[in-house]
Amino acid sequence: MTETSLPELEAILLVGGRGTRLRPLTLGTPKPLLPTAGVPFLAHQLTQARQAGVRRIVFATSYRAEMFREAFGDGSAFGLTLEYMTEETPLGTGGAIRNAAQALTCGPDAPVLVLNGDILSGHDTADQVARHIARRAAVTLHLTEVEDPSRFGCVPTDDEGRVTAFLEKTPNPVTNRINAGCYVFTRSVIDTIPQGEVVSVERETFPGLIESGALVLGYADSAYWLDVGTPAAFVKGSRDLVLGRLASPALPGPVGELLALPGAVISPEAKVDGGTTVGARAVVESGAQVSGSVLGDDSVVCSGATVTDSVVGPGARIASGAVLRDAVIGDGAVVGPGNELLAGSRLWPGVTLPECAIRFSSDV
Ligand code: GTP
Repeated sequence: MTETSLPELEAILLVGGRGTRLRPLTLGTPKPLLPTAGVPFLAHQLTQARQAGVRRIVFATSYRAEMFREAFGDGSAFGLTLEYMTEETPLGTGGAIRNAAQALTCGPDAPVLVLNGDILSGHDTADQVARHIARRAAVTLHLTEVEDPSRFGCVPTDDEGRVTAFLEKTPNPVTNRINAGCYVFTRSVIDTIPQGEVVSVERETFPGLIESGALVLGYADSAYWLDVGTPAAFVKGSRDLVLGRLASPALPGPVGELLALPGAVISPEAKVDGGTTVGARAVVESGAQVSGSVLGDDSVVCSGATVTDSVVGPGARIASGAVLRDAVIGDGAVVGPGNELLAGSRLWPGVTLPECAIRFSSDV
């Protein structure tokens, strides 16, 4: 990571979304606070931002705003100063940035880092800021390369790195580079976003800046990058952190096949691997197999159950012989014996799925 000599770099963290794609996990907890590799997701972003030279962060909150202050307080545990700005009704990404900017202390020419609160990235943020300053850009966008850009809007650049367009999703994208959700804004540019209005940076601010001839730069690289907005991506993010595919100073244990939090009880006859996190006081009984998953605090995986690439919410119980693959089990839910929940299945908090009554057998 590039060393930065910037004094007191400030950032805005966008954390006000409702995280609808991650329901039911986000019914009670905002996406940026979901336990990920043993700590709230944002802990990974906060420690990385601190390493990149950020000293003060304004949280742009809306959905369940009070939970962020409860989790992170004044930020001193992270060596940061944290401020909280809340939108009574969500103002969209651009409106949220403008609203949060009222709590910035920097002058009009200073760079301000803006982060989506649901991104894991290994890119060199300090270098992105340094390039922004060197080129005197209005905004510098981190761009990442994906295999299938048709699922995203794409962001073409010219030979000098200048962004030439912000294109909507299309079956035939002109580039595989997409917006990676980490921006450096020159402070005065934020002040041009209308205040108190719903504004999208992706659909309005960036296309408008490009149209007006302002220098919008791309900072493209191929470092680790993941948007944890869907259940499958969320589980992948957690297991990648546990396995060390992305380094995080916030990881509360050594990198390895599993991360067991205090009080977790794992039978020696159970198989737990693939970057699984076993929550505090969670139990994995003998003969159970758990791979690449997140087991919440106080959850139980009974003997002979199989859990793969899934999230088991706090206090949930997976009975003997049940099979989960790519599934999300809400807090306190019970999956009765013999059930198979596959391919994106979701069980809402507190629901009990009785013992599976249908048995397929060659004898029938
Ligand atoms: P979905 O409902 O699943 O799309 O999730 P989301 O809205 O929480 O996330 P999305 O990927 O759409 O937004 C990107 C980032 O911007 C996330 O970190 C959100 O928390 C944040 N965000 C989105 N809309 C708002 C808003 O209106 N206000 C604030 N403060 N943050 C927002």
